[in-house]
Amino acid sequence: MNQLDSLQFREVMGRFPTGVAVVCARAHGSAVWGVTVNSFTSVSLDPPLILVCIDRAAASHDKLTTAQTFAVSVLAEDQADIAKRFALEPPETRFDDVAWRGASDGSPVLEGAAAWLECETNGVMPGGDHSIVLGRVIASGCSDRGALLFFAGAYGRVVT
Ligand SMILES: Cc1cc2nc3c(=O)[nH]c(=O)nc-3n(C[C@H](O)[C@H](O)[C@H](O)COP(=O)(O)O)c2cc1C
Repeated sequence: MNQLDSLQFREVMGRFPTGVAVVCARAHGSAVWGVTVNSFTSVSLDPPLILVCIDRAAASHDKLTTAQTFAVSVLAEDQADIAKRFALEPPETRFDDVAWRGASDGSPVLEGAAAWLECETNGVMPGGDHSIVLGRVIASGCSDRGALLFFAGAYGRVVT
């Protein structure tokens, strides 16, 4: 794809509104890793499977794709600052001053999220310049907070 086509592709896909999530895992030892994603989607109900796509060029790629378990925090409408932090801050300082708790496996779940899932890694498949990570959901929870939305490069919220 030439550069013009690539920009067009990003612009077109940016007009598909999504939620925003942070995928987190605990690496060997105790280091915690997390990345903002909007490639999160459900795949299967039985068994319960979800997927996220992680950029192979991301510093966190190997940590997230080799983790045996990971957590997904679906961001709430007042968490745009968290979305920016987990996309732009250096991986080493992303969790500074961010409230989180460990899921049963220790994967970080961000406090204040609209919903969360804990997953066992079920497979990692190549997807061009991304890796497609399939997760089997082993625990989950939700709140009554509204979700953060992403559309055409801007954050928003659901208006009912
Ligand atoms: C709204 C939004 C959605 C994003 N979605 C994804 C995604 O689905 N997959 C991905 O790999 N990066 C995604 N990114 C970019 C990563 O958050 C960003 O590149 C991050 O810094 C990569 O982590 P790294 O520091 O480990 O390289 C998204 C960023 C934003 C702001």
